[in-house]
Amino acid sequence: MSKNQLHEYFDELDDMNEDGQDSARKRISVKRESKRKEVEAKLFIRAQEIAKEFQFTYKAARFEEAWLLDSLTDIYEHQWISDVLRKVKGGKEASVYLCKSGTDMDTPFVAAKIYRPRSLRNLKNDAQYRIGRVDLDADGSALWKEADINAIAKRTTYGEEVRHRSWIAYEFKTLERLFEAGADVPKTYAMEKNAIVMDFVGDETTAAPILNSVNLPASEARELLDRVIRNIDIMLSNNCIHGDLSAYNILYWNGNITLIDFPQIVLPKENPTSWKIFLRDVTRICDYFSSQGVRCDAYKIAADIWTSHGFNIAKRLDPKYLDPDNPSDRKLWEKQK
Ligand SMILES: Nc1ncnc2c1ncn2[C@@H]1O[C@H](COP(=O)(O)OP(=O)(O)OP(=O)(O)O)[C@@H](O)[C@H]1O
Ligand SMILES: [Mg+2]
Repeated sequence: MSKNQLHEYFDELDDMNEDGQDSARKRISVKRESKRKEVEAKLFIRAQEIAKEFQFTYKAARFEEAWLLDSLTDIYEHQWISDVLRKVKGGKEASVYLCKSGTDMDTPFVAAKIYRPRSLRNLKNDAQYRIGRVDLDADGSALWKEADINAIAKRTTYGEEVRHRSWIAYEFKTLERLFEAGADVPKTYAMEKNAIVMDFVGDETTAAPILNSVNLPASEARELLDRVIRNIDIMLSNNCIHGDLSAYNILYWNGNITLIDFPQIVLPKENPTSWKIFLRDVTRICDYFSSQGVRCDAYKIAADIWTSHGFNIAKRLDPKYLDPDNPSDRKLWEKQK
């Protein structure tokens, strides 16, 4: 790799960081920044070496490959995948790839969700979700080392790494638990570093669309709302609220739904704001189904499920947890006034 290429790569990195710049990032010291660049450069060089060894059908963009290949190699070497076919979706926090499964697996395709390296993304504002959550280590077990716990609290570089891993582990562990409990979520196979391997929803040529982009016939819409409510109920039975549930995080394929995207789950028993987050989830779901002609009262549905699990309804909504730009959040706020 020439010097010029390396510089170009750095420039691209900087451009991306500018996009997501926040005040905390601005305070990063020059020393730490140059260290970060050094690490990124090593990763990039390593990716070049890997690319020579592993030839995937999908050709990553130059910028993407450094972190993508690094993450995919582990799951490839452990034979969870045998090829990367194409990118399904690139997001702010993670990208999802359609992969051919490893030889010993009983499914032809899997989805690999690869989280962007911590330095290249802003973790979803996770403070409100993490209340009452024990952080998890890379194996998905509760963190017990005081040094790790302190590092997270102090937000050191290492602490941020641990927090990042914990975020991914929550998604993996939750999917695993909910799948066992009979919820409509993808079956998971592996969690490695920045990656989760799970069932792919769709077929070789088409990924399942998100429910929000689907227009349902009236008869099917009612049935699917009941199905979503059943899933919400299973989640509560497993001490879990999705926390970012909407028709954007539900896939629709052959008349079935699959709930995805769980890193931010909220623990209803431990988080004092859980009722509001729960109500927001149910409201967003009802917004979609109302648009599909189903008459549904979000507050009543939420309150019925919530109280049937023995929880109390918080009296007031805290505006801190509402998004002023979201019409359904505004509606909730108006209702309370
Ligand atoms: N198991 C899967 N099978 C097929 N497609 C999937 C699967 N998981 C995720 N996807 C696709 O990838 C997209 C992003 O996944 P997910 O919502 O988990 O990640 P995200 O980083 O939170 O993205 P976003 O910010 O877009 O919500 C989904 O909207 C969906 O199109
Ligand atoms: Mg999502």
